Amino acid sequence: MKRVLSGIQPSGQLHIGNYFGMMKTMIANMESSDLFVFIVDLHALTTVHDRERLRQGTLEAAADFIALGLDPDRCTFWVQSDVPEVCELMWVLSTLTPMGLLERCHSYKDKVAKGISPSHGLFAYPVLMAADILLYQADVVPVGKDQKQHLEVARDIAIKFNNTYGETFVVPEPAISTETAIVPGLDGQKMSKSYGNTIPIFLDDKPLRKKVMSIQTDATPVEDPKDPDKCNLFALLKLFAPEDKLKEVHDLYVNGGAAYGYIKQDLFELIRDHFADARARKKELLANQDYLREVLAKGANKAREKATVTLELVRDRIGLRY
Ligand code: ADP
Ligand code: TRP
Repeated sequence: MKRVLSGIQPSGQLHIGNYFGMMKTMIANMESSDLFVFIVDLHALTTVHDRERLRQGTLEAAADFIALGLDPDRCTFWVQSDVPEVCELMWVLSTLTPMGLLERCHSYKDKVAKGISPSHGLFAYPVLMAADILLYQADVVPVGKDQKQHLEVARDIAIKFNNTYGETFVVPEPAISTETAIVPGLDGQKMSKSYGNTIPIFLDDKPLRKKVMSIQTDATPVEDPKDPDKCNLFALLKLFAPEDKLKEVHDLYVNGGAAYGYIKQDLFELIRDHFADARARKKELLANQDYLREVLAKGANKAREKATVTLELVRDRIGLRY
């Protein structure tokens, strides 16, 4: 059975891009793989310096996953910082990571360009991510396309370690689903918390409708034909609409008659209904935080068992045991 692992930062509201880019694939893998899912609070520290936001965000992320269908009894589900071994492995991997490899990372450059202050933690972010993946000997890592380069860094570091000290780490493969590799946001750019263009999954009806209505579309008159493949509204509709509905709207785009306002209303209703049960479940879960803490503590114990085995092997390989 393959070990499938991925994580999410507890740094903001879960959005449609996160769901289709990563979470849905992870939850679908529950039966067929040895699934490892975690909340990367140490990574979130690179951008969140607010105690309450981080605490609340971590519990919310746990509730998000369970509400959307993750069964903690059928996977290993934990919070990154509850297994501090990852920090030791990160240091070891850092000593093998060329500066140039990190200097080329788009995610770092983008965040700095957006005004996030370039701390050492932000720069070293991909090394901690490599430690996350290698510590648990993951075979497959489902992520959105924006994380592809980070996966390549993890692979490069694993290969370098294995070449230097002998076969130790599984070299992980990314799994990027083609249709949902990049879910567009309200403005047509990649949907991302840091671009402020997201449609959060768990909004109440009124703010959700407002978000959907604010999806940017062009000014082509209703009766004119439009190219559905160039329209972010259509790309979002594709994620939710059943085939017959999608075909109907597709034909309106191609032949003329597609009114964006009506399509947005349809999309709003589809999103609302798609996540209705999960939204109710999330509310219940957040009302029972002790249950969430208990689940995460159990998960951390399970994760730590695996982590200590790998780390002991690493310490031995590199000469930290004498
Ligand atoms: P954000 O960019 O909003 O901060 P995260 O970095 O927390 O999102 O991403 C969590 C997961 O969701 C990652 O696997 C990432 O690749 C995926 N993801 C985020 N945004 C998108 C998107 N617009 N399309 C597809 N996948 C995405
Ligand atoms: N960097 C990832 C993101 O922003 C989160 C992450 C941290 C991760 N460690 C990981 C994803 C390990 C997969 C595997 O989305």
